[in-house]
Amino acid sequence: MNRLRAFDFPHKALRNILSKFSHQAGSINFNNQQEVVDLQKLVNEMFALLESHLCHEENHTFRHIETKRPGAISFELNDHQRMEALQEELKHQLNAGPTNGHDFYIQACKFQSEYLNHIHHEETITEKLLWELFTDEELIEHRTEIMKSMEPEQLMLWFKHGMPASTMADSIAVLAGFKAAAPPSAFQAALNINKPELSKDKFEVLVLALN
Ligand SMILES: [Fe+2]
Repeated sequence: MNRLRAFDFPHKALRNILSKFSHQAGSINFNNQQEVVDLQKLVNEMFALLESHLCHEENHTFRHIETKRPGAISFELNDHQRMEALQEELKHQLNAGPTNGHDFYIQACKFQSEYLNHIHHEETITEKLLWELFTDEELIEHRTEIMKSMEPEQLMLWFKHGMPASTMADSIAVLAGFKAAAPPSAFQAALNINKPELSKDKFEVLVLALN
């Protein structure tokens, strides 16, 4: 039986932006001001997603687990602290202005691999616990609760990096849910932010399916 995968959409968005980050950090010329500015812009979006993601899991997903099975996600909570420390370390290096582009790139890749391991654990271990403790309907409620807790700009960032990395079926399902709950202008903004991120064909399929 296919169950709802609560981590699927946000983790695909994170993998998408982490890949862009390591690709960009490895290919730019750190002496070129414009390229550094472009990397900084991507990094700001990446940190906004990473920081909000840890909060969403802790304030919603993990809190629900904790209510039903106290102590069951202590490993995940400790790992979140480790991720936060790594994020801070990387942010510190960036703010200090990397003096050696290659060293920064290596550090970026180390962060990427640590984070990928973290989300792999959640998708293979924590997700099974969610399935054991909650119905799909309850998992949808958790997702709606998370979406409602976000500022519009934050939600748009998730759409921007999550849609191109997701299947069309999942993108349509997420946006259909959003369309049902959000004002038309917000739904239009969600479509607009995806237009430059998706191929022309995929964007047309998305628009058609949601009309
Ligand atoms: Fe997590």
